Amino acid sequence: MDNVQNKTVIVTGAGSGIGYQITEELLRKGAKKIAIIDLPVARSYDATVTLQEKFGKDRVILFPIDVTNLEVYSETFKQIVKALNGLDILINNAGIIHDRCIEQTFAVNVIALIRGSLLGLDYMGKHKGGKGGTIVNMASIAGIRTTGVYPVYSSSKFAIVGFGRNLEKLYDKTGVRILTMCPSLTSTPMQVATDLSEERTLDIIDEEVLKNLMINVKQEPQSVVHVGQSVVMAIQKGENGSIWVIANNEPAYPVKLPPFVTA
Ligand SMILES: NC(=O)c1ccc[n+]([C@@H]2O[C@H](COP(=O)([O-])OP(=O)(O)OC[C@H]3O[C@@H](n4cnc5c(N)ncnc54)[C@H](O)[C@@H]3O)[C@@H](O)[C@H]2O)c1
Repeated sequence: MDNVQNKTVIVTGAGSGIGYQITEELLRKGAKKIAIIDLPVARSYDATVTLQEKFGKDRVILFPIDVTNLEVYSETFKQIVKALNGLDILINNAGIIHDRCIEQTFAVNVIALIRGSLLGLDYMGKHKGGKGGTIVNMASIAGIRTTGVYPVYSSSKFAIVGFGRNLEKLYDKTGVRILTMCPSLTSTPMQVATDLSEERTLDIIDEEVLKNLMINVKQEPQSVVHVGQSVVMAIQKGENGSIWVIANNEPAYPVKLPPFVTA
């Protein structure tokens, strides 16, 4: 449906984990130029240099910012579109999991993602003179099912799914496809941090509760390479509004969620 060859792309949170793998896979599949947006930390610079050495210096540019600084984000977005000479695909992937930091969780996972999507629509939307494009929003399996372990994180991911389900309805006007990704547990620094830290869960989730809740949930993390490849496959094949489950290293598939109540 959509070849990624020669496309210009923004990937947020690409200095690590899933975002890094998506970027690598897009470059391997012939994307023209990718702008990485990530925090100004050593990991972001290292990841950029590694990708530049592998795929060419002029194909990867780092914009080291915090996406929750919405003024800076908006200004940077403008600079990026200029540097890329256009924009075809925006991947809103940056995210955190820390249920005791409720405001920050929603600032990164939801507000910055919505702001980013609206900026993407401003530049790609046909209604604004653009040529259309694709927005990929990184939710999670925790955005379509509940476990009770991370209620704050999970509800931020439900918000992303809900946002996409609304935005897809505007496709006729915008020409911008909305794709939503729902990976299960994946081997990344985020997954390692959650494995080791009870401080990231609400204090009502004590050891006893956790043990009971986890009985049906405990699973081995899947490979991050598999998730990166699956996201790119979904970009190539996914219909507007499709919601993709990427779980347990198995082939990714789109799911249909129940329709909204028409009351
Ligand atoms: N790892 C999993 O099990 C899993 C499962 C489902 C969904 N996800 C989602 O995938 C996405 C990537 O997660 P990951 O596992 O690769 O984690 P990660 O921690 O390896 O990567 C997240 C990236 O986002 C960046 N980031 C965080 N806050 C930012 C901010 N304010 N501004 C700019 N960049 C910021 C981080 O610096 C990091 O590079 C997240 O949205 C996460 O919720 C992860």
